[in-house]
Amino acid sequence: MPPSFKLPLMRYAFLEEQSTRKALAEFILTAPRLSMDEQCRRFEEAFSQHQGRTYSVFVNSGASANLILLQALKNLGRLKTGDKIGFSALTWSTNTMPIEQLGFVPVPVDCNPATMNVHSAQLEDRLRQAPDMKAFFATNVLGFTGDLNNIRQLCEQRGIIFLEDNCESMGSELPEGKAGNFGLAATFSFFVAHHMSTIEGGMVCTDDPELAEMLLIVRANGWDRNLPAHRQQALRQAHGISSEFKSRYTFYHPAYNVRPTEITAYLGLLQLQHVASTYLRRQENFQRVEKWVRSNPDFIPFDYSHMKLLSAFSLSFLCRSEELRDAYVQRFIQNGIEVRPLIAGNMGAQPYYKKYIGTEYPLPGADTLDRCGFYCGNFPTMTEEDFQLIASSLQPIS
Ligand SMILES: Cc1ncc(COP(=O)(O)O)c(C=O)c1O
Repeated sequence: MPPSFKLPLMRYAFLEEQSTRKALAEFILTAPRLSMDEQCRRFEEAFSQHQGRTYSVFVNSGASANLILLQALKNLGRLKTGDKIGFSALTWSTNTMPIEQLGFVPVPVDCNPATMNVHSAQLEDRLRQAPDMKAFFATNVLGFTGDLNNIRQLCEQRGIIFLEDNCESMGSELPEGKAGNFGLAATFSFFVAHHMSTIEGGMVCTDDPELAEMLLIVRANGWDRNLPAHRQQALRQAHGISSEFKSRYTFYHPAYNVRPTEITAYLGLLQLQHVASTYLRRQENFQRVEKWVRSNPDFIPFDYSHMKLLSAFSLSFLCRSEELRDAYVQRFIQNGIEVRPLIAGNMGAQPYYKKYIGTEYPLPGADTLDRCGFYCGNFPTMTEEDFQLIASSLQPIS
């Protein structure tokens, strides 16, 4: 049995837990259909509006969102087998794994420990060693971001496709726009403990109609069933499919089945009603704890001075040494606070990465974050008691 914490990484599955669970039970009892249908379409439209993007494609997880995005770009010929794809060294496994699984070459880009993120300076550095990089799939880490506008410009100048894994930074903003709106496309996760949850779920957003159409094909079996009628006709004509009988079982492109359900879409629509008000609360929580961090010489505070809104995923900490990090981790756990590494530390140091990819790019920034960082939960329903527990755990050690 895992220990039960007074302050877990996440206390509830949903924003407005009780009313959401009740509404969900009623929905399941009365919905005419539970597989992908009207609720999914409505959630996609609502999400596009919320994020300020033209197209949203809902899937069953953030991992699937990353997978279909890269597969769609490959199907369109915008990325080819053997192309180098940069990624943020501090990220999640399923950001990096599909790069290798789809036959691309992953190139880790180091993170700036001050923000946990890749900035244009780190990308420029890596481009000196990998000048033929074809795409950069940035992770916006734990609510923080790099200088996304400069990264976008750099990618434009160099003809690099810029993609954002925004699974951890929904709601964060820079003066130039929302995190997730800087690249050609961005992915989101709605797994429990993210900014909003559909239990499991993910989204890909883009303004590119050709990419949006290919995402619909890749999401479900490689067929055309989810395209508008005029696009189905065009595809059928191009491939000489004249029989309606056959057309429903015709597969045009390599694909998966990563469809969402009406249940997850219904949850998404409910959660979206509450999520905007929680972005600010997440920032307020972070800033409250940051005051204690700034007055403790054991810590190096994070920098988000380039951001307009920090929709902090977690309460993240960076210690001045690995020994201090280990001591604080021990103290947090003893005090009943659940903690974990910053995402999963340096991806380049993961066993899977060393075994299957094993490149030799130096990653000192990600390494520092791996050795000296940790985080505890941040959620809108945190109580005074939770904050007191954190305050007492942040008393100086050294
Ligand atoms: C940066 C990042 N990308 C992708 C994912 C995958 O999302 P999911 O758990 O919904 O598959 C996560 C999950 O936490 C993540 O942190």
